[in-house]
Amino acid sequence: MGRQLHVGFIGLGYRARELVQCFLQYGSEIRIVAGADPNTLVFKLFEKTVGTPIGCYTDCQRMLRHPDVDVIVVATPDHLHREHTILALQAGKHVYLEKPMAINRIDADAILDAACRSNRLLYVGHNLRHTTFLKTMKELIASGAIGDVKSVWCRHFISYGGDAYFKNWHAEQRFVNSLLVQKGVHDIDAIHWLAGSYSECVSAFGDISVYGRGDEHSEQSYDPDVDTNFRTEHWPPKSLKPLNPRRNIEDNIIVNLRLQNGALCTYMQNHFAPDAWRNYTVIGTEGRIENFGDMKSHAKIYVWTTRHNTYGDPTSIIDLPLIDEGRFHGHADYDCVAECLNQILFNQAPTIHIYDAYNAVLAADAGTQSMRTNGSPQSIDPITPFP
Ligand SMILES: NC(=O)c1ccc[n+]([C@@H]2O[C@H](COP(=O)([O-])OP(=O)(O)OC[C@H]3O[C@@H](n4cnc5c(N)ncnc54)[C@H](O)[C@@H]3O)[C@@H](O)[C@H]2O)c1
Repeated sequence: MGRQLHVGFIGLGYRARELVQCFLQYGSEIRIVAGADPNTLVFKLFEKTVGTPIGCYTDCQRMLRHPDVDVIVVATPDHLHREHTILALQAGKHVYLEKPMAINRIDADAILDAACRSNRLLYVGHNLRHTTFLKTMKELIASGAIGDVKSVWCRHFISYGGDAYFKNWHAEQRFVNSLLVQKGVHDIDAIHWLAGSYSECVSAFGDISVYGRGDEHSEQSYDPDVDTNFRTEHWPPKSLKPLNPRRNIEDNIIVNLRLQNGALCTYMQNHFAPDAWRNYTVIGTEGRIENFGDMKSHAKIYVWTTRHNTYGDPTSIIDLPLIDEGRFHGHADYDCVAECLNQILFNQAPTIHIYDAYNAVLAADAGTQSMRTNGSPQSIDPITPFP
């Protein structure tokens, strides 16, 4: 066996436990040796997921002082990404950081600065890029099948939005900024990737259409043990409870993006739709592609490269296999973690650059400012060129 990487986690919650399985799946090069979380109640379940005894810490700084830890996974709530990533980089560790890179431009700047000063890898886990349906769409575009991309439209239906985001910390602006940042960075990054360019101007509207605004000064906080499982019987959305009493984020968002190459794009996010999937369409100068189903359901890509003057059957349909029945985002999580580890161990070039994660935060943060100022256009100054 060659070099072995020792991994420590900051934040031992839901996502950390999923990532443990992806790190272990990579192979014997990986050993998970430590974890830090102020909530000692999570230690047992985390250690059980790892399957071997590890060092558990309530203070991550004690874990970071450990010379035996090479890679840190940051899987804490979003507003803590800045603090934990910078501490880990300064301690000389490589970092796998969960998306979003940060909740706003200021924090993203600070993280980027720390990454540039360190000689360690900072990898942001944009797992959506590794889904088969989006990779297939990207390959079709790269093959020239639809000519030059001029429009990318994404509609995200999120039936589980109330369970996942309106009962716990996700529901508060102070922890996430907005769900356009927290969740939308996935798709803004994907839009940039499919179009081959970054956003230079955004305009957005958002509203709290269904879950209602709580009292952000309420003495009461959310219940950390609340049932956030995605249950189909949690319906209709207005019947969901208990919601976070301090909730103040939008559940209905639309944003328009003008990219530097002139492509005009749009992203819509809805947290009370009855179904859960992403629908992308990309229109180029010689055709259009669209997915039906995504990584959690059987997906097909429709390709139109001939003209119809009414609705017309696609020129071809690409039928994609359902991988892992949608678990681990249809294998995307494994591939995302493997890409990070391949870069550390073998210096293999990744498909995503840190500037991609940074520019997605810039656009999502600017979009948030726009939707809170009645759609005012916000100019952005992304880091270029597009890789
Ligand atoms: N890429 C994806 O598909 C995906 C999916 C889910 C979550 N995520 C990301 O993972 C991150 C964590 O989300 P989650 O759903 O696991 O949340 P969670 O609430 O289940 O877990 C967060 C954990 O962080 C711990 N924590 C809080 N403060 C801490 C501190 N100061 N030091 C160390 N630990 C601390 C909490 O006690 C909790 O155990 C978020 O940034 C989220 O965006 C990504």
